[in-house]
Amino acid sequence: MTSQQDRRDPRPARWQDRAIRKLDEYRTFLRGAVRNPRAVGAAMPTSAAVAATVAQVVPTTGAPVVVELGPGTGSLSDGIHARLPHGARHIGVELSKEMVDHLRAHKPWLEVVHADAGDLLALLDKLDVDRVDAVISSIPWSLMPGDAQDHVLRQATEALDPHGAFTALTYRPADRTPGGRRFRTRLQHAFDEVLTHTTWRSVPPILHYICRRPRR
Ligand SMILES: C[S@@+](CC[C@H](N)C(=O)[O-])C[C@H]1O[C@@H](n2cnc3c(N)ncnc32)[C@H](O)[C@@H]1O
Repeated sequence: MTSQQDRRDPRPARWQDRAIRKLDEYRTFLRGAVRNPRAVGAAMPTSAAVAATVAQVVPTTGAPVVVELGPGTGSLSDGIHARLPHGARHIGVELSKEMVDHLRAHKPWLEVVHADAGDLLALLDKLDVDRVDAVISSIPWSLMPGDAQDHVLRQATEALDPHGAFTALTYRPADRTPGGRRFRTRLQHAFDEVLTHTTWRSVPPILHYICRRPRR
C-alpha cells in the first residue's frame, strides 16, 4: 500500500460507519412505524434542519433538566445533547421498546425511560426531578384524541419551571386536520405565549410550536 492510499483509507471507513449507523436508525424507525403507525406517526426520523431549530430552546448554562417526549431513534437528541452544559440532565420518555433499546445502545448519555408521556409527573418523581427547564415533544399530537392531548399537556405544564419552554412538532398538513387544530387551541389555553416556526427544508415541512409561561 502506498503512503497516499494510507492517508485516504480512514475517510471512506468513517463515511461507511456513518452510513451503516444511519441505515440501522432508519430500519429501527421504519419497523416501529409499521408495528404501531398511530403512535409513531411518521415513516422517517426528522431531519438535521429540524433538530437544529428544536435545540435552540435548550439552556446552555446552569444545570438544566431537559425532557424529550418521543425521542424515537434520537434524531433530535444529538443536537440537544450538544448544547447542554456539563451537569445537565437529558431524559427521554419513549413508548416503543425497540426505539428504547436503540437509544440505550447508541446514545448512552441519554436517560431513557420506557414509558408513556402521559405518566410524566410520576416518572419525574421517581427520577428525583422537581422542575424541568425544557420539554421537547415530537409525539404525534395531531393523531391523539382530545383527552389524551389534554392529559399529556397538563403533565408537561405542571412539570415545567415557570421560565421553562415547551416545544412540539407537527407535520405542516397535519396542523390543518381537526386533531391538529384542536392541539393548537389547547396550546393557546395551556401557555401564555405560543410562537410558530416552519422548517421548509424537511419532507414534509415541519411546524414547530414554541411555548412559554405555562398557565396553571
Ligand atoms: C414522529 S416520531 C418522532 C421521533 C423523533 N423524535 C424524531 O423527531 O424523528 C414519534 C415518537 O413518539 C413516540 N411516542 C408516541 N406516543 C408516545 C407517548 N405517549 N409517550 C412516549 N412516546 C411516544 C413514538 O414511539 C415515536 O418514537
